Amino acid sequence: MILNTELEYKGNLFPSKIISYKKNLDTLAFTTENNVILHITVVRDSVLRFRYTTRGNFDKDFSYAITKYASRGYNFLEVTEDPDKYIITTSKLICHVSKADTRTAIFDSKDKSLICEDEIGFHWEESYEFGGDIVKMSKTSHTGEAYYGLGDKPVDNNLKGKRFENWVTDSYAFGKDTDPIYKAIPFYTGLLQNKNAYGIFFDNTFRSFFDFCHERRNITSFWAQGGEMNYYFFYGPDMSEVVTNYTDLTGRPHEMPALWTLGYHQCKWSYYPESNVKAIAAKFRKLKIPCDAIYLDIDYMEGFRCFTWNKEYFPDPKRMVKELADDGFKTIVIIDPGIKIDDDYSVFKEGLDKDYFCKRADGPYMKGKVWPGECYFPDFTNPEVREWWSDLFKELVEDIGVKGVWNDMNEPAVMDVPGKTFPNDVRHEYDGNRCSHRKAHNIYGMQMARATYQGLKKFSYPKRPFVITRAAYSGTQRYTSTWTGDNVATWEHLSIANIQAQRMCMSGYSFVGSDIGGFAEQPNGELYARWIQLGVFHPFCRTHSSGDHGDQEPWAFGTNITNVVRKFIELRYELLPYLYTAFWRYANEGIPILKSLVLFDQQDPHTHYRNDEFVFGEKILICPILEPNAKGRRMYLPVGNWYNFWTDEVVEGGQELWVDADLDSMPIFIKEGAIIPKYPVQQYVGEKEIEEVVLDIYFKRGKETSQIYDDAHDGYDYIKGRYSLRDLTLIGKENELIIQQYKSGKYTAPYETFKLRLHGLPFKVTKLEIDKEGFICEDIKDNGETTLIISKDFTEIHIK
Ligand code: GLC
Repeated sequence: MILNTELEYKGNLFPSKIISYKKNLDTLAFTTENNVILHITVVRDSVLRFRYTTRGNFDKDFSYAITKYASRGYNFLEVTEDPDKYIITTSKLICHVSKADTRTAIFDSKDKSLICEDEIGFHWEESYEFGGDIVKMSKTSHTGEAYYGLGDKPVDNNLKGKRFENWVTDSYAFGKDTDPIYKAIPFYTGLLQNKNAYGIFFDNTFRSFFDFCHERRNITSFWAQGGEMNYYFFYGPDMSEVVTNYTDLTGRPHEMPALWTLGYHQCKWSYYPESNVKAIAAKFRKLKIPCDAIYLDIDYMEGFRCFTWNKEYFPDPKRMVKELADDGFKTIVIIDPGIKIDDDYSVFKEGLDKDYFCKRADGPYMKGKVWPGECYFPDFTNPEVREWWSDLFKELVEDIGVKGVWNDMNEPAVMDVPGKTFPNDVRHEYDGNRCSHRKAHNIYGMQMARATYQGLKKFSYPKRPFVITRAAYSGTQRYTSTWTGDNVATWEHLSIANIQAQRMCMSGYSFVGSDIGGFAEQPNGELYARWIQLGVFHPFCRTHSSGDHGDQEPWAFGTNITNVVRKFIELRYELLPYLYTAFWRYANEGIPILKSLVLFDQQDPHTHYRNDEFVFGEKILICPILEPNAKGRRMYLPVGNWYNFWTDEVVEGGQELWVDADLDSMPIFIKEGAIIPKYPVQQYVGEKEIEEVVLDIYFKRGKETSQIYDDAHDGYDYIKGRYSLRDLTLIGKENELIIQQYKSGKYTAPYETFKLRLHGLPFKVTKLEIDKEGFICEDIKDNGETTLIISKDFTEIHIK
């Protein structure tokens, strides 16, 4: 019996009283009378791991999600006991473990406030059909508690009142509330009424469920159809710390993305033949719409056989890829997991000879239909298969010059079968922990993306690899970027894209974007323009659509729309150094690139239920227009003062207000005190030698810090210290503006000067002091703004 509810079944079993306790370094082991063992590991002062077995011993400890670079170690650990409970104290947390039944309760070690406590706590049900247990956990939900995260769920930000399933699923034209869809990220953040936040990551790859006060009003629970009850608890109290603790454990991108990957990408199912690809590329240059990447969908292949080319459409791929590259376009190709059954196809034959394809329980191969017809599927959970797969990219990348690979259908998707995927009995290697598809399903796509990433890394070297995936489990963010799958060209989907991108960022996976304009059906010009406006503020920025619904290039909707689209793509290119810095903070510290308002300011209860507004990087507030015929919209500005990006008008936050935004505009606000670096517009990254960087400086009375990260934009020199990090402090006074710079790293940018554009300065500039040397200067106006050009390596400037 497959249970879809946590409590309905009467066969639940529960731990009985604890009869023994042992401490082994950072792990505390409790054994109950009925042979349940609970291991609590103090991973860090604010991170605890809870692991239960009902069989008296644990399976080998193995997880695809956890990175080997995860930090470990605590400052303080003490275990005491009283008649009822064990008490574990770290410098951040106190955890009680009830002697009667192993139930736990976690408190803040400083103010002793309750953060999270078990209701029934761990319980389980024996699974007669498959063996092992259906493992369950229930926790008390406190009044006013809110829940966020869980990957790509297409629902409002706050998950309270809802139930979700994690089982990665091909979901063509999914809708609002469709569940599950493409990703399984069993990690959520809870925000308490006292504004403290904690997180839970249930590292179990079986089909799992999360219930946030849906089945029972004050209870949050999660359970899985097999495996262990194995979860991590993170304490913030800041939401961003919860997320950074989670990505410390599950990893951050292994490298910075090449800067061009943050440019604009154009995709369609499919651009072919070569002449069409070339014509699309040429039109971008002719219309001066910046673009860095062009995609080849499945039709570039010979009969949809991966790693082959249709020679009729693409007679000389190497030449084409080079010609595109000469014009600044990087070619990205799709690669799916299904390998066509065809004895004349070398990849198939090799896979068969080497025994690399997945098999059914009783021996036959796992056969399923995808684009090429009947296929076999590599078992990417076998390290040897991953190695083989990675080597298949040699020709594509090293010889032909393809710069990125797009992994699709890797849920894995199978056509015309119930469940749209492999049956449960398919066997997997699971890196030496052989198991069925029940356990491997949710990580299959992740392991394919990982193998692809290994290939790209090997053959792109010394350049950085670029991969995109559709399916993902926690930890996939280490290897690849991702998109939200087959959405639809509707206004509702524009708003879903907005929430999904925020949610993914909050779930530790920031390199994300949607199919701009919608994949299924066709947008009108207005919807496309509004979607571009949102899309340029997503870390991954790509238009994609299915072929059957007309054209979806920036010029497909008439000149007015083309102009709006160009204006916003240009803005993205200007903001590249700002986005690159935000990416560096994400790759380095795990700080989400997009911050939902609640993550930006969890102390302000008004932010807790907002969906539309988000902060891009650290300082830019965005609010997309999500309705047709809009001349503007109401939006919430977080506490603080904000500059309207278009008018420089300063507005006080902490309130909702109307903001004008005709079709060629959208609500954008800059946090006062911000210093925003900008590049000149380029048609593609590297088109121009950057000769000067603009710093847009938004005056504030008081202090504000900003950062600018830079490096060679590709390659690995930055890892050896050849990067540049500028820590900037702005101090604004009645009649003086001071900017201090602290520079670290060994990278020297090619440009020499900054052009300072001063916004909202309350006085007329008469004097400038750079590193104690004084200059008399005129108030120089450029388009009505005060601008100053100074050498980029100043330490302190005073503008008076
Ligand atoms: C899937 C992908 C889509 C792609 C299509 C053809 O539907 O999600 O992006 O264009 O397959 O490869």
